[in-house]
Amino acid sequence: MTVNQASFRYAGPRELAAALQDARHYTLALFDALAGAGYDDAARVPRLSIVNPPLWELGHVAWFAEWFVLRGATDSRPGAASGHSLLARGDDWFDSGTVPHGARWTLDLPPPGAVKTYCHEVLDRILDRLAHEADDDAVLYPYRLALAHEDMHGEAFMYTLQTLQSRGAPAPAGLLAPYAHAGAAGSAGEIAVPGGSFLRGGDQSSGFVFDNEKRAAVVKVAPFAIDAAPVSTSAYLDFVHDGGYERAHYWTDAGRAWLMTQERSAPRYWAREGDEWHTVRFGRPAALDLAEPVRHVNLFEAQAWCAWAGRRLPTEDEWEYAAAACLPGFAWGQVWEWTASVFLPYAGFEADRYRDYSAPWFGTRQSLRGASFATPARLRSARFRNFYTPERDDIFAGFRSCAP
Ligand SMILES: [Fe+2]
Repeated sequence: MTVNQASFRYAGPRELAAALQDARHYTLALFDALAGAGYDDAARVPRLSIVNPPLWELGHVAWFAEWFVLRGATDSRPGAASGHSLLARGDDWFDSGTVPHGARWTLDLPPPGAVKTYCHEVLDRILDRLAHEADDDAVLYPYRLALAHEDMHGEAFMYTLQTLQSRGAPAPAGLLAPYAHAGAAGSAGEIAVPGGSFLRGGDQSSGFVFDNEKRAAVVKVAPFAIDAAPVSTSAYLDFVHDGGYERAHYWTDAGRAWLMTQERSAPRYWAREGDEWHTVRFGRPAALDLAEPVRHVNLFEAQAWCAWAGRRLPTEDEWEYAAAACLPGFAWGQVWEWTASVFLPYAGFEADRYRDYSAPWFGTRQSLRGASFATPARLRSARFRNFYTPERDDIFAGFRSCAP
């Protein structure tokens, strides 16, 4: 596998310092966008399982960095960090492992200004410390972890914006610019991939590795043919026009059960006016862009499209094999891609110090691969394993297909 030198995984102290500042700047800008629509007040945030109150999420991001970097935590469990949070009740408020999701709406949090001050203070102290650190993977582990965590929450803020702003005022256009690099959708057609073996996942020999990527192992893959690019909005629209949502036989049992709970004849956000289809992007109405990958579809919709088209989803191994081999024409990175694989541990898995990152979710989430337009470049990796429950259609996810 070629090493992406821009990846946070190999960043030294100087690059990390710049990236941590960039990530915090962006987190605060996203928070301000949500605050501008009144969502800094938790009472105004709908109690949805798919979002966090933005003020809680802002404090949580800083608290996480403080816990692992400044307080030297060896574990995410209570008591595993030294000293106290700079916020007297930081541990009571911002530990995602101990504060249940539903409770995040009713915490007696400090006002936004005080949470921002905490964010600045934590980052200042982290940068002071980082300036004296050696360029050593073990030493830099907590810094890289804190950065990746903040970047993931940055994307979560983006889908919170999409979820909430669809109901209210549009997001400022400039906010979306840094990551509005969707680019071309990639060419249609498929790539024939010869079977073979490849080194899946990663180990700790160099750079940062997520626990769910270990242990690295040589994995065999049979020959397969895979789409060169994610399924386009145009190809998905054909399924919609062909009555895909009304024909039960295209849907799995779980997919039918989900569909029964919805009034859905097209993906989330799509609306039809006469012959014209529209969607909503961060609060702004937009015509469907037929050339770009379909997004905001869940696993059930991806599976139903495949059944209709006589295709199937790739397994995680097939996807990683194709992406890691840098096959000519294999385009990814505009949308996360649902795979056929349930999110499961690799052989030899052991939870790393952020214990709740992967282990609690094995078996109940589906693996997605790739990256979305909202994923910072430094986080992108052919071996990155994302995972969500199958019904999630608020995330920036699409899919690609394989020949059966
Ligand atoms: Fe988190």
